[in-house]
Amino acid sequence: QKEVLAATPPMGWISWNLFEGNISESIVMELADAMVENGLKEAGYEYIILDDLWHGGRDANGKVFPDPHKFPNGMKVVADYVHSKGLKFGIYTDIAEYTCAGMVGSLGYEEMDAQTYAEWGVDYIKCDYCHAPEDLWTGIERYEKFIKAVRATGRPMVFAICEWGQRAPWLWGAKVDGQLWRTTWDLRDTWEHGQYNNGHNGIMEALDRQVGLEKFAGPGRWNDPDMLVIGLNGTGASSSANGANGCTVTEYEAQFGLWSLLSAPLLMTCDIRNMDADTKRILTNQELIAVNQDELGKQASRIHKDGAEEIWAKPLADGSWAVGFLNRDNDKKRKIALDIAQLGFDGQVKVRDLWLHKDLDFKPSAPIKLTVEPHQCRVVKITSIK
Ligand code: DGJ
Repeated sequence: QKEVLAATPPMGWISWNLFEGNISESIVMELADAMVENGLKEAGYEYIILDDLWHGGRDANGKVFPDPHKFPNGMKVVADYVHSKGLKFGIYTDIAEYTCAGMVGSLGYEEMDAQTYAEWGVDYIKCDYCHAPEDLWTGIERYEKFIKAVRATGRPMVFAICEWGQRAPWLWGAKVDGQLWRTTWDLRDTWEHGQYNNGHNGIMEALDRQVGLEKFAGPGRWNDPDMLVIGLNGTGASSSANGANGCTVTEYEAQFGLWSLLSAPLLMTCDIRNMDADTKRILTNQELIAVNQDELGKQASRIHKDGAEEIWAKPLADGSWAVGFLNRDNDKKRKIALDIAQLGFDGQVKVRDLWLHKDLDFKPSAPIKLTVEPHQCRVVKITSIK
């Protein structure tokens, strides 16, 4: 039987938002160490992924090589180190001549690059869409061709399609054997988009773009609303561009809760070598990670919206539901109510708060009513106890 790649949403760390091109062998090694030492590996994080700007060029035979200053010992040494920590290694390319940042892309080198990545021990490929044609079909054809070459190597490599939702990759991403696809522009370290809406999204705008996409997600095929900005606190090289100066702890919690409900990949971008207590607490919330990694692989849908209040609900493998109560109001707290009959519950239930890590008291026959602070997303798990 064929192994399902990314049977649950990929979890790990990716370099772009924090470092852009300031990546190197030593940074990857330090990050891999930190992933283990700071309890992130134990919490389920697995991949260390190098985004754009690792490249040196192509040699006389066309074989891609890394920047010799950043990676003086080549890429296999880096991948081997990551593997020695019990982690997996990911790399970035683009389906055109050039990457977004102007490095060599994989167009015309699909087989050679797939082979090279396999030799290095790559486990995850993120493939961008910059400099590729506007039309839909060329994109599909190019990804299909590349992914075939990747599969022909025989090495199981997760393939992340980084087309930003313009060509509805949720309609064809799984057919060409991609395991995830972007649904949004790049996420910035900010709550709303406002003035930053020039090809970049804030957390709420990225969230809105997930409505209706839930039917396309499942084991081995995930919608990707982009990276976790949690803990960047305005320090990200790319994520903080254009005045996106960071979020509050409540807003970072909301991203983590929502991304868990959305079965989104959980790709951290903050400096995991130096996390403050809130960042670590948020990123290692085991009860939310369990929601994200639930084997049923269903993505939450928005089951209620009334102005600033929203409810997002995700069914879980054990028959319970994870439910997010989100208040998008900027300054007023709200009481948000859910009639659990709407989720098919007809008897006694237990309601557990996944941020407070405790069961809540409430009257079985009444709707669940939660007080939600501005920009907060409370997440509960509702389980039938009859
Ligand atoms: C655009 C992508 O959407 C980003 O995630 C990042 O990979 C950059 N390109 C790198 O140039």
